[in-house]
Amino acid sequence: MAAAEVTTPKHPASGRTITVKVKRQRTPDAAAVTETFAIPYRPNMNITSVLGEIALNPTTTEGKGTTPIAYDANCLEEICGSCAMLINGKAMMACSALVDKLTGPDGNGAITLAPLSKFPVVRDLAVDRSVLFENLKRVKAWVPVDGTYDLGPAPRQFPQVQEQRYPLSNCISCTICMEVCPQFNDATGFVGAATIAQAKLFNMDPSGAVLKEERLRALAGGGGVQECSFAQNCVQACPKQLPLTEAISDMGRDVFVQQVKDFFRR
Ligand code: FES
Repeated sequence: MAAAEVTTPKHPASGRTITVKVKRQRTPDAAAVTETFAIPYRPNMNITSVLGEIALNPTTTEGKGTTPIAYDANCLEEICGSCAMLINGKAMMACSALVDKLTGPDGNGAITLAPLSKFPVVRDLAVDRSVLFENLKRVKAWVPVDGTYDLGPAPRQFPQVQEQRYPLSNCISCTICMEVCPQFNDATGFVGAATIAQAKLFNMDPSGAVLKEERLRALAGGGGVQECSFAQNCVQACPKQLPLTEAISDMGRDVFVQQVKDFFRR
């Protein structure tokens, strides 16, 4: 019997190209320009691989040589939260945004890439999202650990509490909830859904609860939980499906109760 012929799988040689329009900015203060690239299509490409193709041959469709596009990325599997950008005008993660879902029903639509609009541009698609980390510091979004000695086993948690906390622990700090929130702007100083959700996560932790009152006071007043207008954009856009509006409601109630307690303690 003749041996079966072994063939090496190959990508279909479609000859198709993808048109990608990228909003670019060389420095934080430079004027933005749009450059257009034609990228050879491969099955299962995501936006990170498109940006990699541009880096291999940074030449625009007009034949002008340019520089590779600056953007943030690390894990390439929607865990680190660094690659958020506007893809066809929508805040998404570049590493999980698939080209086949972005080029329209005939596969010929252009893809547009731009930096998140509510954060200072560092360069091209890379933005400065340090405001999130300042907000997390404001609400002390951590479990205080004093010293490096062995603390022994952590306190037990009821399974019902674990089930509520686990989805909140999936936050990847991508800032998409802040980008899509109409209340996240300079006028309100709103801390945003991610920060409020993390405050709830740590308030429910048996060890983290020692800072519960401080977190609730940090979320009272200007920029706090009261700024939420329940547009619910955050919960729809979150790439990890965090129960953000539920967290904001719960924290709104807890902040109010804390304010009443503080009033009677005066
Ligand atoms: S590279 Fe880490 S989330 Fe996209």
